[in-house]
Amino acid sequence: MTSSEIRKKFLNFFQEKEHKIVPSAPMVIKDDPTLMFTNAGMNQFKDYFLGNKVAEATRVTDTQKCLRVSGKHNDLEEVGHDTYHHTMFEMLGNWSFGDYFKKEAIEWSWELLTDIFKLPKERLYVTVFEGDKADGIPFDQEAYDFWKGHIDESRILKGDKNDNFWEMGDTGPCGPASEIHVDLRDEADIAKIPGKDLVNNDHPLVVEIWNLVFIQFNRKADGSLHALPAQHIDTGMGFERICMAIQNKKSNYDTDVFTPLLDELAKISGKKYGELSKIDIAFRVIVDHIRAISLSISDGQLPSNNKAGYVIRRILRRAVRYGYTFLDLKEPFLFKLVPILAKQFEEVFPELKAQQELVEKVIKEEETAFLRTLENGLKRLESIKAELSSSGNATISGAVAFELYDTYGFPLDLTALIAKENGLTVDEKGFEQAMNEQKNRSKSAAKMETGDWQIVNEGRDVEFVGYDEVKADAKILRYRSVKNKNKEQIQLVLDKTPFYAESGGQIGDTGILKVSNETIKVLDTKKENDLIVHFVDKIPAQLDAKVHAQIDNDRRRKIVYNHSATHLVHAALREVLGDHVQQKGSLVSDKLLRFDFSHFSKMTDEEILKVERRVNEKIRENIPQQEERNIPIEEAKAKGAMALFGEKYGDTVRMITFDPNYSVELCGGVHVPATGNIGQFKITTETSVAAGIRRIEAVTGEKAEEYHLDQEAILKQVNALLKSPKDLAQAVEQLMKEKNELQKSLEKEQSKQAGALKDELIKNAEKQNDISVIISEIALPNADALKKLSFELKNEVDSLFAVLACDVDGKPQISVVISENLVESKDLNAGKIIRDLAKNIQGGGGGQAFFATAGGKKLEGLPQVVLQAKTMAKEL
Ligand code: ALA
Repeated sequence: MTSSEIRKKFLNFFQEKEHKIVPSAPMVIKDDPTLMFTNAGMNQFKDYFLGNKVAEATRVTDTQKCLRVSGKHNDLEEVGHDTYHHTMFEMLGNWSFGDYFKKEAIEWSWELLTDIFKLPKERLYVTVFEGDKADGIPFDQEAYDFWKGHIDESRILKGDKNDNFWEMGDTGPCGPASEIHVDLRDEADIAKIPGKDLVNNDHPLVVEIWNLVFIQFNRKADGSLHALPAQHIDTGMGFERICMAIQNKKSNYDTDVFTPLLDELAKISGKKYGELSKIDIAFRVIVDHIRAISLSISDGQLPSNNKAGYVIRRILRRAVRYGYTFLDLKEPFLFKLVPILAKQFEEVFPELKAQQELVEKVIKEEETAFLRTLENGLKRLESIKAELSSSGNATISGAVAFELYDTYGFPLDLTALIAKENGLTVDEKGFEQAMNEQKNRSKSAAKMETGDWQIVNEGRDVEFVGYDEVKADAKILRYRSVKNKNKEQIQLVLDKTPFYAESGGQIGDTGILKVSNETIKVLDTKKENDLIVHFVDKIPAQLDAKVHAQIDNDRRRKIVYNHSATHLVHAALREVLGDHVQQKGSLVSDKLLRFDFSHFSKMTDEEILKVERRVNEKIRENIPQQEERNIPIEEAKAKGAMALFGEKYGDTVRMITFDPNYSVELCGGVHVPATGNIGQFKITTETSVAAGIRRIEAVTGEKAEEYHLDQEAILKQVNALLKSPKDLAQAVEQLMKEKNELQKSLEKEQSKQAGALKDELIKNAEKQNDISVIISEIALPNADALKKLSFELKNEVDSLFAVLACDVDGKPQISVVISENLVESKDLNAGKIIRDLAKNIQGGGGGQAFFATAGGKKLEGLPQVVLQAKTMAKEL
């Protein structure tokens, strides 16, 4: 079976058991403060387990793009070094939301593995939870008994909390688990050690392939477990591993999931996979990492300097470094693997193919930049080497190794390798210490303590009324306190709210809550999964009193202008620049709108103007907003609605139309009743964000008006300064022309004077044995002229010792010039000399042995410089 057949078989199997096949959620998570990336298939269903939301279907199945590179589940360091861990992997899963439980989950997993996938039964082992005293959970007898019906008891093993109690993170849904492991070793090896001794023992050929989790609890922030209202099934099968088992391979990388990538990398690098361990590791790291990088970019997460973007950047750099060091790849190469991936994933994750060009460009640019840093790091290493050898030291200190790591992205092994080649060693302990110090620093900087929700009123569905209302009468469902860098914040959830929670680029509403006679300020509103969380300034005294919620409507009005204008500009950009324009990010606030989109060159002034004109035209048309709240996604797509990559859409969606032939978008945001409200639209900047991604910022309504008024005021001011000429532009041009001409003649005159000065200095040079001594106090218009004069003297006078004490436009400056022959024969150093002389002018400076300069504060010190220099010259 090919990998794509295996995936299909899995999904079809559960479809036949009445599961609905759903799409993978994006790999990059937007609305969950506890998680940066999807790390398990169940993430997108978290709210169904917790009871915050009711599932539309109680049985679903899918293949989920997962990334385990941070937080509780982090496999990054193992990747490439072993053959069965990955950063990005696909997790096949089947779920029951309060529907079937252990019996069916166990029965079906066994049926699929042995009947459909035909894995030999005698190669399979299963584990059940042994129980845990501290958590007060007993041995999972029930699961054990169900397994007994399928598999010999000698192959049912007990596992502890570590292996058999699954948790998503520090908090959230969790429960006892049963894992299925497969033994893929040869018969001879099996005869030596039975497989059961190797289960959960990090053996590359005795691996877990499927985890069945019986979700029953919620782990709270204080560590306590609380039973959930219903019992659920959450399973996860590692797709790449099941492919290895079915295709009878010894490594995930030997399956058709990875071989096309390995072959291409072999072509690119001219190296072979499967011969040398170090090279093999590099191959595996690279073909693994490129999947994580490509899929996160196609989900809208570009490499950057913080949070999720930084994680992606680090993964990319890790891949580049392995290529650089072990495969001798000194030019960008990762991006060349993207076409293969795009093809492989075409049917299951089509978003990659759809954005292939963009993904390649972003990766290539990132690689190019990092390779440059890497080269700089290598240069830095050269100077470190020189410093060490001059001090007779042979150890690169931990601090320096850490600087190389932190600033230049050198992993310790790379530094150690280069050190070894140069007969040096690295203080690895010192490095670890510096690393830990930094980790602790960033840990305490990021420390956020989230208290548990305190329930005030039962209820799980929050009604958002803000599309139609700016006020609502509500009650408080829950609240909690969050400590962020020692600042306390109160968060509060209402059953009904007009407050829009930040999402889809639109910022959260602010406003007030009146709770009996107390007024609480709402400082921000954010989403946490599907909850609308109000960030407020204090806990209301009467928590169970009626709440009157009211948004800051003036602020909202301005936000809404910018949001609707964003839709209008999106459509205009596609008209003017082409269909390749895809939204890549947006910010909609009360002050401005920012819109990032894929486009491969800078917009011309003409294009910008065209886009502005088109948007303003649509504003004047005063097109009424057409809103459809619950239409099936397929219908919306058929109507030409633009959906965004990396967004999670349900079966039904909200569609916003401003003229069916102009702008149709899936959108959860708030909009103007008709485009005329926006007033006017003005683009203020157009810049680049990354390779292939442009950014415009624009203003609307009053802000656009202010913008134009400001521009007009500047123009008026300039006009007045130039005494209201007939043609302002021409007058400025004329002024610039005159200024340039004056500048040129001034420079000519200055250089003439400098020439005369030089001639005089040479004429008056004192001969002292073979040495020409020029020491003089002079005046010049700028520092450049002094430098130029110094070099001219050096070129024209042999065996020169010159000190020029110069008044540069009222500031003292000294230059010391010494011919190379004197530097050597008399062991002179202009840099040293100038440090002594500069004291006279209260200044400092430096340079090389033959030329140095210094500036200072005390102009009256110049004669002193001349005197001291003359004494020095006598001693030559
Ligand atoms: N949620 C379970 C896991 O990720 C299935 O292993």
